[in-house]
Amino acid sequence: QAAEKEGYEHFMIKEINEQPKGVHDTLHRRLNKEEKIELDGIKLTKEDLDRINKVYIVACGTAYHAGLVGKYAIEKFAKIPVDVAVASEFRYSDPFIDENTLFIAVSQSGETLDTLAALREAKRKGARIMSVVNVVGSSVARESDDVFYTWAGPEIAVASTKAYTTQLVSMYLIALNMADTKGSISQERYTEIVNELKTMPLKIENIVKNDEDLQKLADEQFNKENAFYIGRGLDVCVASEGSLKLKEISYIHSEAIAAGELKHGTIALIEEGRLVIALATQDRLYDKMLSNIQEVRARGAYVIGVAKEGNKEIEKTADKVIYIPDTMDELTPILSVVPLQLLSYYIAVARGCDVDKPKNLAKSVTVE
Ligand code: G6P
Repeated sequence: QAAEKEGYEHFMIKEINEQPKGVHDTLHRRLNKEEKIELDGIKLTKEDLDRINKVYIVACGTAYHAGLVGKYAIEKFAKIPVDVAVASEFRYSDPFIDENTLFIAVSQSGETLDTLAALREAKRKGARIMSVVNVVGSSVARESDDVFYTWAGPEIAVASTKAYTTQLVSMYLIALNMADTKGSISQERYTEIVNELKTMPLKIENIVKNDEDLQKLADEQFNKENAFYIGRGLDVCVASEGSLKLKEISYIHSEAIAAGELKHGTIALIEEGRLVIALATQDRLYDKMLSNIQEVRARGAYVIGVAKEGNKEIEKTADKVIYIPDTMDELTPILSVVPLQLLSYYIAVARGCDVDKPKNLAKSVTVE
């Protein structure tokens, strides 16, 4: 195994470093000569799309968090209503499925039993089944009508990193392809987003290569027993993934909430020294996030802000700020999750945890 780690201390940090390649491969294998997205031969015609009245994205764990971003992208660009469900709940919720439903399963391993069972249920009810899967030929892939592979390469660490960022890119590609086919996006906007997606590998690399501040922060904060991740809009999806990453490998109790919900309960838990990670990457919600940061700081929280380069206002309210390279609001999740992965990793290392194999967790959960 030491050889497979290629000099890295853990698979997780190796896989974090492999994200620029995974994102690059997932994207570039789908761009044709005209820089148009092609979904590996998946035929979603305008007639198909006009007929689809509902999309369900179903997954577990990290893949579910990618689904949350998928919902945002499909609704925003393709203008089709989307529900996202955790697979273990989906089957028992009497989902509204018929032959006009598109069911999208997201799974790294393609073997998660709950996801597979949900897929079978949707198929039985007549839905068209698409899957976003990393492992070629896995059960989810085999049982789907259409498969869209993430090109992350094998992921060994239990905590998912490169599978997540490649799932995000896949969701954007599917959403943009649908929008283009439907005609619900202008060509200028489509090209602008595709061009921005192409800058992602280099931007991720910048974050990963300059992680000294995150290591320092981890060394200062690793003793905390609780953490809260807050954000608004797309940042809530990333907050959920950041929080999961921290709790699964460092065993710090952690939760993610929409910042606007703080005042409805969670703020009661904010006290001196409480660790709050505040994502403030969405331009149109930036000011609202700054007041949420003030709210928790006034109660003594230690706030690590995550913002886009150039948005310096946050330095006045947060204790520390982690900057991500500038990008359009719609695509920030691909970047903002990376410092959260690194922070969790360094905190878990500082706590002496078994980073690649956290207790009680499995890479692939093949039981219900
Ligand atoms: C397990 C893993 C997670 C993963 C989840 C879903 O809990 O530890 O990292 O996100 O299963 O797995 P899948 O292979 O379906 O993406």
